[in-house]
Amino acid sequence: MRSSALMAAVLLSGSWAAISRAEQPQAPAAPTMQTAPEATAHPSAWPAARSPSAFSTSRDEARISAIMAKMTLEQKVGQLIQADISAITPEDLAKYPLGSILAGGNSGPYGDERADGAKWAKLVAAFHAASRNSGAGIPVLFGVDAVHGHSNLPGSTIFPHNIGLGAARDPALIQRIGAATAAEIAGTGIDWTFAPTLAVPQDLRWGRSYEGYAADPALVSAYGKAMVRGLQGTLVAGKPLGAQNVAATAKHFLADGGTAEGKDQGDARISERELIATHAMGYPAAIDAGALTVMASFSTWNGAKHHGNKSLLTGVLKERMGFAGLVVGDWNGHGQIPGCTVTDCPAAINAGLDLFMAPESWKPLFANTLREAREGVIPAARIDDAVRRILRVKLKLGMLDAKPVERGNPAMVGAPAHLAIAREAVAKSLVLLKNEGGVLPLRPGAKVLITGHGADNMAMQAGGWTITWQGTDTTSADFPKGQTIGQAIASQVIAAGGQATLSTEGTSANKPDVAVVVLGERPYAEFQGDLPDIAFRTTREDDALIARLKAQGTRIVTVFLSGRPMFASKLINQSDAFVAAWLPGSQGIGVADVLVAQANGKPLRDFTGKLPFAWPDDAHSPVLKPAFPTGYGLSYAKPASVARLNEDPRMELAESASAENYFVRGNVPAPWHLGIDGAITSRAVDLSAQEDARQFTWNADGSLSIEGTPVDLMRQLNGGFALLLDWRIDRAVAGPIKVSFGEATLDIGDLVRAAPSGSPVQTRIPLTCFKDAGANFTAVGAPLRIAAPVGFTATLRNVNIEGVGVTIACPPVQKK
Ligand code: BGC
Ligand code: BGC
Repeated sequence: MRSSALMAAVLLSGSWAAISRAEQPQAPAAPTMQTAPEATAHPSAWPAARSPSAFSTSRDEARISAIMAKMTLEQKVGQLIQADISAITPEDLAKYPLGSILAGGNSGPYGDERADGAKWAKLVAAFHAASRNSGAGIPVLFGVDAVHGHSNLPGSTIFPHNIGLGAARDPALIQRIGAATAAEIAGTGIDWTFAPTLAVPQDLRWGRSYEGYAADPALVSAYGKAMVRGLQGTLVAGKPLGAQNVAATAKHFLADGGTAEGKDQGDARISERELIATHAMGYPAAIDAGALTVMASFSTWNGAKHHGNKSLLTGVLKERMGFAGLVVGDWNGHGQIPGCTVTDCPAAINAGLDLFMAPESWKPLFANTLREAREGVIPAARIDDAVRRILRVKLKLGMLDAKPVERGNPAMVGAPAHLAIAREAVAKSLVLLKNEGGVLPLRPGAKVLITGHGADNMAMQAGGWTITWQGTDTTSADFPKGQTIGQAIASQVIAAGGQATLSTEGTSANKPDVAVVVLGERPYAEFQGDLPDIAFRTTREDDALIARLKAQGTRIVTVFLSGRPMFASKLINQSDAFVAAWLPGSQGIGVADVLVAQANGKPLRDFTGKLPFAWPDDAHSPVLKPAFPTGYGLSYAKPASVARLNEDPRMELAESASAENYFVRGNVPAPWHLGIDGAITSRAVDLSAQEDARQFTWNADGSLSIEGTPVDLMRQLNGGFALLLDWRIDRAVAGPIKVSFGEATLDIGDLVRAAPSGSPVQTRIPLTCFKDAGANFTAVGAPLRIAAPVGFTATLRNVNIEGVGVTIACPPVQKK
């Protein structure tokens, strides 16, 4: 127990606290993880906060007590567990009285990644009904990652990712975005979103940098408050949230953006003072604003997992910051606490976690937690406190009322008013780094080419966490009410009396005056976006395109799509104008509003965006010497000339190869090497570009393999990744064509023979297929082996493992 002074403060702090404390017996000494002194927080040093008293009145607390008095221990423990829709059905709830359901990034209703709003609503309603009609009759909380709009749902409004909103510096806009997003989420019957992220990213190598608003803790704090207000509305005592509001989640507690080298799920090796000053500031604001839930971070502080850090979860968050809501874990994050597994972890609950996120591990976790509750390994008082917090959230959402608040107005999805807010947000998120000779705005009547691989690419402008977790296969068809940047600019140029050609290859019938070149990062989420440095690498095609445009005297406006500032000095030097557009989402029209002058000679809006993070002068991260400081941003009203930038990365750049790339444009990248036996000959060939692939001919039965020092690919396995063969089948043959991954071998002969021969095809094999066939993913030393009979001929361009959002059947297992 905490110091008596602190207890007194908690007791005084509101009626809910008084009641829940009064009902709690003193907890006996419970088994928790011991955290080392450098990972033990001192709550009195932290900012105080308090959930508003309107969160739960004494009448609400009495109602909760009455419900709890009738609950069995089994029903109580069930409340503490959340399962993913890919691994549970509504029928399961009759036997397992779970408290919550989530739909993870790759989990669509009924296995359909592109389910529409009606299908989502149907599934949510089925889970709600099943839980109401069984056990204690308490409905499940249904949560989803609506992190930039209701982003799993085709047809929804996709707002800029948080980094772009940070550039806008407009808390009132954030509140409107929150309200619009909530209306779309609630429109499909869902109760809860896992947002906002309150990370304060320190190292831009981190793949989640774009989920953070800014480097400035004060801005993150103002935005956290605004987003919570927008999503939930203002809490009113004795009244549930509105039917167009949902519960928010302040995440990830704590210092997810402070890990060494920007490693996702890594370790923040910092003092308590820095933990507070840099990373904690969003939380008091979000709690004071009424945030109903907080998510624990996967990461560690000085080596201690946040999921098991009682000094932070209980001492700081619940006691010092007076947080009255529930603390949810992250995707099996509890299993990473030393001594825990994903199916067994009393230490997390004892540390202060209230709800396990146990996507597919929920069933054995339920059995183990129930046993531990019976044995007192988890004290009864702790179970009761967790259940009370969960019920408090449900009650505030109006889910426990005799006539529950009904969420489900599908007309809200992609509503015109929401699209208009997104368009405004896109325009306000753009940061103008350079505009020599006033090349922008594009003049009325101008001849404009819009080109580059991002010009007509909804996946690139929407980024990760869109339709699927990684966002790699998003298309324009997913957002019929949206526009790609290229489409939007072309139509506005034409409307202003000009000529526009949209061609990603950069071909144009007549020489354009200006080319808008849209380049940037491909979509990624979480660790998939972690980088060894922050240098942007143009492709050979990009370089050739820019050289061609410059040679013909066309002026260049680069629109840069990225989840973070990147070292792109050469590109900036080559460009007359350079716009950092971040990941703007579905409404490309917002870009055109600022870049294209209307017939009257003026664009609809000027640039107002300012850099949320410093823009680097070399490839180092954290940024040592900025090329453009935080807060920088030009406008038409305030133009300025930009000096030539340094183009030296000032460090050795790593090959883009990684543990996940085995063939890159026909070459095997380090650290991997190719082994072929005497039966096979190979030669470099052109598939779509010069020598971008390698052809292998089997002159006898034989095999080729890629080998190297074993790597751990567990996360890619758990993330639903697939092995991708980007190749051309030149000659298929009868008999087994065996693909091995580590110890597992599958026969893809039928797949190969069914594929069209003579043109490139992409063959995807889910990693789970190899897992089921016996591969050990903790040490993969031979990620590819192809064994085929004489005569087989194939041309490999790229082989890698990547996130996919689609369900693919496994090829048959080949016995050795
Ligand atoms: C992420 C969370 C997310 C959760 C559910 C985790 O991998 O870290 O941000 O809310 O998955 O999809
Ligand atoms: C899920 C995401 C989750 C991730 C965790 C994915 O399979 O769809 O929601 O964040 O795994 O690694």
